[in-house]
Amino acid sequence: MANEGAPVSTEHEYRPVYQTSLVDPAEFWAAAAEHVEWEVPPGKIVEPAHRPVAEWFPDATMNTSVNALDRHIAAGRGDLPALIHVSSMAKPGELVTGTLTFSELLDRVARFAGAMTGLGVRAGDRVVIYLPMIPEAVVAMLACARIGAVHSVVFGGFAAPELAARISDAEPVLILTASGGLEPSRNIDYLPIVQQALELAGSKATVIVKQRPQWGPARDFAESGGRWLDWAETVRDAPAADPVPVAASDPLYVLYTSGTTGKPKGVVRDNGGHAVALTWSMRNIYDVGPGQVMWAASDVGWVVGHSYIVYAPLLVGATTLMYEGKPVGTPDAGVFWRIVQEQKVRVLFTAPTALRAIRRADPDAALAHRADLSGLRALFCAGERLDPATYEWAADVLLAEHPECPVVDHWWQTETGWPICANPLGLQQLPIKPGSASVPVPGFRIRVLDAEGNPVAAGTEGNIVIGLPLPPGTLTGLWNDDERFDRSYTAAFPGHYLTGDSGYFDEDGYLFVLGRSDDVINMAGHRLSAGSIEAAVAGHAAVAECAVVGVPDELKGHRPLAYVVLKAGVEVAPEELKAELIARVREQIGAIAALHDVVVVTALPKTRSGKILRRTIRQITAGAEVEMPATIEDPAVLTAFEDRVRLTRPTGA
Ligand code: COA
Ligand code: AMP
Repeated sequence: MANEGAPVSTEHEYRPVYQTSLVDPAEFWAAAAEHVEWEVPPGKIVEPAHRPVAEWFPDATMNTSVNALDRHIAAGRGDLPALIHVSSMAKPGELVTGTLTFSELLDRVARFAGAMTGLGVRAGDRVVIYLPMIPEAVVAMLACARIGAVHSVVFGGFAAPELAARISDAEPVLILTASGGLEPSRNIDYLPIVQQALELAGSKATVIVKQRPQWGPARDFAESGGRWLDWAETVRDAPAADPVPVAASDPLYVLYTSGTTGKPKGVVRDNGGHAVALTWSMRNIYDVGPGQVMWAASDVGWVVGHSYIVYAPLLVGATTLMYEGKPVGTPDAGVFWRIVQEQKVRVLFTAPTALRAIRRADPDAALAHRADLSGLRALFCAGERLDPATYEWAADVLLAEHPECPVVDHWWQTETGWPICANPLGLQQLPIKPGSASVPVPGFRIRVLDAEGNPVAAGTEGNIVIGLPLPPGTLTGLWNDDERFDRSYTAAFPGHYLTGDSGYFDEDGYLFVLGRSDDVINMAGHRLSAGSIEAAVAGHAAVAECAVVGVPDELKGHRPLAYVVLKAGVEVAPEELKAELIARVREQIGAIAALHDVVVVTALPKTRSGKILRRTIRQITAGAEVEMPATIEDPAVLTAFEDRVRLTRPTGA
């Protein structure tokens, strides 16, 4: 098969490959497309005039699940492991492990696809997946891909209102869920959350429930009138579904991510461009191929989970490892390293916050040194910037005995679906610069612009943008909202996609991504909208208005802080208010949106037209000197706000 075999030859060095990808993208991606199995191969490679963004492989058809499963079985590799599932949550103190070969996974996928077809699900229908980190999540996603249904996975840590917002927007015919998720502090019951979300969204979708042993004997859903179905029952006699060829440009999934407002953005991914880009990335960035094990220690609810737990490893015939558990405390800070050793993991991909959690629990990495990590080719990090201190610890302490195993920071977003900047290990391993996500990945024409849209000099911070067209695998739009796509991404700097991140290039062309330049807060590698936290806080009876910003957090990178103005005449004890606001944010968004800091202020600085001066508030919170904005409504408010912030500035601990 075309995507198998020899390692990438060393003459394919980074720089010429990158240049070719920009000078002749059609030729570059036509070559990459040869590694994907098509039903109708692409005649045309790209339609740049397509709205809202360029369309890749517009005349081709294929099926993503065939590329992830059937083709490897046809090549005689059906008995190789496709999915290794490890849970440190199922039985406390134990690592419970299970493996599905490509043939076994295909059998499960095809029968679940058959069950969905039997329920009337058709190509183009949406299916919401609200599942914990169990193999059924992978089965469900690939089964949707098999019949051309569009999945929308919602992270299990989101509360009912967030799930409802996604159901309202995606309008699914089916919801796939489980009894619940296993968290260290408690078992989370999903069914009441799903029930409440369906009510909030006014949805009539059918729900299939994977019943987990930790929740006791299987429930009988007979009284639900066919609305709620048991997973095992539904699939028992289902016929295996044949793959449905879809247009390469048809949507594979919608994944919601936080924007600057409370309403999440439904990022749409296609089938063909996605398969081509992810396949290319496995060889050229991650250096993982057939028969090798990749472990993305993320969650299927995030983009990293979509791309590098589910799709990319399987597309190239590699084995994916799926982990239900935490980096620390389940049972200890050595669990990652034991799994790497036992499952012969070649590439581990995690978030810097997980490394910081491990470092805090095991500063000398004694537990890592007890494990044999010699099979580890690389440790990749993303989700937030890999700060130099964490990088140094990982490289010098954790991997002290394995200097040949690089620690690679790489930068990407839900929208791009795969890395924008990386150290392309499979192509050419470049020197590492701590604090930098290395160099632009082929296909991404990155520029750093000032507020007027002029390129800035090396070493100068500015807005990071990507020249259009974006490469394959990136978003093809926002679900049902082209206007928001334009407003969010292409209006600010015509001809460019606005990443929302700021940073700078150094003299060697290495990009340093410093953080968000908008109202998105990155906490523990998760993206949270300041707007949705504000909506939860503002709903409290005592609150007149509020502004939420991110403040540095030693473990989680950033955490939300709420500045709150109380309604006139309201008296409330600060600790009571704080506890109530924290509880509201948990109920409305989920436990992951942990609000820690609440500061009551007399007024928020605003413009004369009444807009809250968020950028100024962010700068003051960060301790920066700010000039009085020309548009300020009342300079005294700003001065009083600065004084209050100075007194209450969080420590970052
Ligand atoms: N379902 C339900 N609840 C969840 C959840 C899920 N999938 N994931 C997290 N939560 C809950 C936790 O139980 C916790 O609840 P609690 O406050 O009642 O205890 C809360 O959300 C906060 O969780 P988290 O942010 O994970 O903090 P933590 O202190 O439990 O763990 C880390 C800290 C660093 C170990 C953890 O944040 C981590 O592993 N981060 C890595 C993130 C990651 O992989 N991101 C992907 C980017 S590539
Ligand atoms: P998400 O869409 O949830 O994956 O979050 C994407 C955002 O996370 C980016 O816009 C960045 O702000 C941040 N991010 C992800 N990876 C990195 C990285 N390696 N360096 C810096 N920021 C990152």
